[in-house]
Amino acid sequence: MVRNRKQPAQQKHGNNHESSSSSGASDVSFVSRTFHLLSIWKTFVGVVCFMIAVYISTLGYLETRVNTPLGEEKVVIDAGLAVPDMYWGSYRPGVYFGMKSRDPRSPVFGMMWYELAASAHKGIRHQCEQNDNLPTYGWLRHDGVHFGEQLISDPPHDIRTSFLKTPGGEHGGHWTARINITSTDGRNTPLVLIWYGALDESLGAGVHSRLWVERDTLLGHTPALGNFKVHLVPHTGKIIHKSHSEAYASGLQVLKEKFYSLLRVDKHPNFGRLAVLGPDGELKKNIDTEVNFVPIQLLVETPFVLDVIYTTEDFPIPPIKGDEYTRTLANLTKEFDKKFEEKFKLKEKGYSDEDVGIAKAAMSNMIGGIGYFYGASRVQSQYTKEPVPYWKAALYTAVPSRSFFPRGFLWDEGFHGLLIGRWSPDIQLDIAAHWLDLLNVEGWIPREQILGVEALARVPKEFVVQSNAAANPPMLLLTIGHLVKTRPELFKVDSPHRDILDRMFPRLQAWYQWFQTTQKGEEATSYRWRGRDNDGVQLNPKTLTSGLDDYPRASHPSYIERHVDLRCWMYAAADAMATIARVLELETDKFESTRDQLGDEDLLNELHWSPHTQTYADFGLHTDGVRFVRQQSKNPQEGSKVVRSVTIAPQPRLVTSAFGYVSLFPMLLKVLQPESEKLGKILEMLDKPDLLWSPYGLRSLSKLSPLYMKRNTEHDPPYWRGQVWANVNYLALAALRHYSARGPHAQRASALYTALKENVVRNILSEYKRTGYLYEQYSGEDGRGSGCKPFTGWTALVVLIMADEY
Ligand SMILES: *[C@@H]1O[C@H](CO)[C@@H](O)[C@H](O)[C@H]1NC(C)=O
Ligand SMILES: *[C@@H]1O[C@H](CO)[C@@H](O)[C@H](O)[C@H]1NC(C)=O
Repeated sequence: MVRNRKQPAQQKHGNNHESSSSSGASDVSFVSRTFHLLSIWKTFVGVVCFMIAVYISTLGYLETRVNTPLGEEKVVIDAGLAVPDMYWGSYRPGVYFGMKSRDPRSPVFGMMWYELAASAHKGIRHQCEQNDNLPTYGWLRHDGVHFGEQLISDPPHDIRTSFLKTPGGEHGGHWTARINITSTDGRNTPLVLIWYGALDESLGAGVHSRLWVERDTLLGHTPALGNFKVHLVPHTGKIIHKSHSEAYASGLQVLKEKFYSLLRVDKHPNFGRLAVLGPDGELKKNIDTEVNFVPIQLLVETPFVLDVIYTTEDFPIPPIKGDEYTRTLANLTKEFDKKFEEKFKLKEKGYSDEDVGIAKAAMSNMIGGIGYFYGASRVQSQYTKEPVPYWKAALYTAVPSRSFFPRGFLWDEGFHGLLIGRWSPDIQLDIAAHWLDLLNVEGWIPREQILGVEALARVPKEFVVQSNAAANPPMLLLTIGHLVKTRPELFKVDSPHRDILDRMFPRLQAWYQWFQTTQKGEEATSYRWRGRDNDGVQLNPKTLTSGLDDYPRASHPSYIERHVDLRCWMYAAADAMATIARVLELETDKFESTRDQLGDEDLLNELHWSPHTQTYADFGLHTDGVRFVRQQSKNPQEGSKVVRSVTIAPQPRLVTSAFGYVSLFPMLLKVLQPESEKLGKILEMLDKPDLLWSPYGLRSLSKLSPLYMKRNTEHDPPYWRGQVWANVNYLALAALRHYSARGPHAQRASALYTALKENVVRNILSEYKRTGYLYEQYSGEDGRGSGCKPFTGWTALVVLIMADEY
């Protein structure tokens, strides 16, 4: 999409030359010559000024492109209060339990807790933190619309949180949350529970938006919600002590620290000393600050059940509470279980109740992990001197991990959509719509979305700025294509889904076109991931844009590189575009011809097949002769560091030593025809235990590869260098199922499907039973979960695998 990149400097020279050549006349009077020279001089100055202006405005134009939105109609038309059923929700996946609305300017509510006795060592629980070492936590049931039910285990207590909504009225209706604390050791140890309300940077605080406490009730006002109240009503059990504070916090990311600073030691007849909430000293000192954080602390005897009842002023229907809450929740639970079985048929397939429960938890935590974010990414292009802010935008999206990655990731969301769409195509399309509205005028979408200070506080600095040269696999496009192909009835003319797809189409096309132009390789029909950087330290420079981070590629990044996975992604993207265009009754020819060209096996083989190893591979400037050496820094204070040493010069060649997921892409994305002889070769190698096959799923990299489970730098452990990843195993299973249906390899594909499915499902379930979590990846050596947890992003695809749904 970047057209018309002029070379202003050259044009300037050209014009100089022209104007000076016209001063060649010699037989003119001194005066006229002077005039003539003067006018030439003026013309010259004028031209130069003009060219400088053109240059500057061209630069300015190029500079602003990176953060200029695409000029097409937005896909999301109805937002906030216009979609009442979806207005309130657990849209704060990064905290253990919190509520907010789908409004860019929403107050937030949430929970903290700490053990009275052990507070010194265990600290205050608030944001989902791996270091809290909870035995398990996560949504057990969550339908994305009406309710959710979560279990948090923090010995010696179990905390169950749930919520229900009563939508309606002008201001988003009511909701009720329930916090149910039981003790697991039978000793009924007291617990300190905190419920708070807060206004984030989007609302500020002051005349338009306020929070305060009156007689133990949290009260507030915002322009969108009008007046609201939050009553804390104990349902079971006793409150031993209650305190609250009205305070100012500088951002949502410091609520826990702010809370901590508000505690004062008080005397209590039964407990001796007790930490209670006191006034905020800072608020008094600084008259510019207004109350934006109101925590209410309850010291409770367990078992204890609290109803948190949020009501809006002008809505006469009473909120759900007490025993009615218990009954309604039981009803919704029953309905959820019924719908889950209808959709996935796991009981019918013979899974035990325990396994079905894990599958429900996996899907519910993905759906319960959906957040609503608002803010501006930091982005950079080659024309911006400094990173610049993207436009402020809202993003409704699932997240890969509530503890470690509580924000949106572009290619992950494509995988999430496969499972979410099976549960609710409405939610899937709504999420995709929000992502597609983030397209800039070039057709680019930033790959990681860090919106708002709460999200920003959890991202290491070096990952914040997003470059507009960076791609990420177009899985989201494939998933929309998949929904259109498998559920064409949803997109009938004049249906609401059809309207959404209509608005999506120009955006999908711009995104697709961006890939085709910016990620092209040197050779015809080849493609190359951008953003690889040889810093002399990494054993093999990372390819973060491919999604497979440290998966080994050519050792020396260069423009001659071609990446087989990206070429296959582009095949699948062209196919998805053709599918979508066909349903919308639009021109499909150009997508089909690209797809057919990229599906031409002879062309693919010319670029990527190694007759020597009988495998597909990347091509580039490569050597396997790399190793780490310790190098003494010139500055003696800095000591030594480990750098890469190249022992054999690189050559242009296929990177055949990196056999792994990348080599499988022509099968994974079904580029190969069922009759393909090369498909037969891939299938032959698939179940070799010294290569990719493990009892826990397919490893990302062959055990025989020189970089198998090798660190990439001194401080960078292996990531996609042998571990088993659920998303690629899902693609492999989908492909094996596809090739089981026809062709000479059908029988082999079918046997591999059964064996691989058994391995993947057994291991993910047994690791959940052993540890209470789904993981980012699993060891190819012993099957143990590794990376972060809970990871109910694409690992939750285990539900679709159990259900044989592809
Ligand atoms: C609280 O949780 C316990 C344990 O699951 C359950 O038995 C009890 O019925 C719950 N109480 C309420 C009021 O929901
Ligand atoms: C629970 O469901 C039953 C049957 O669907 C219905 O009659 C009843 O009113 C529901 N109760 C509540 C509290 O929602």
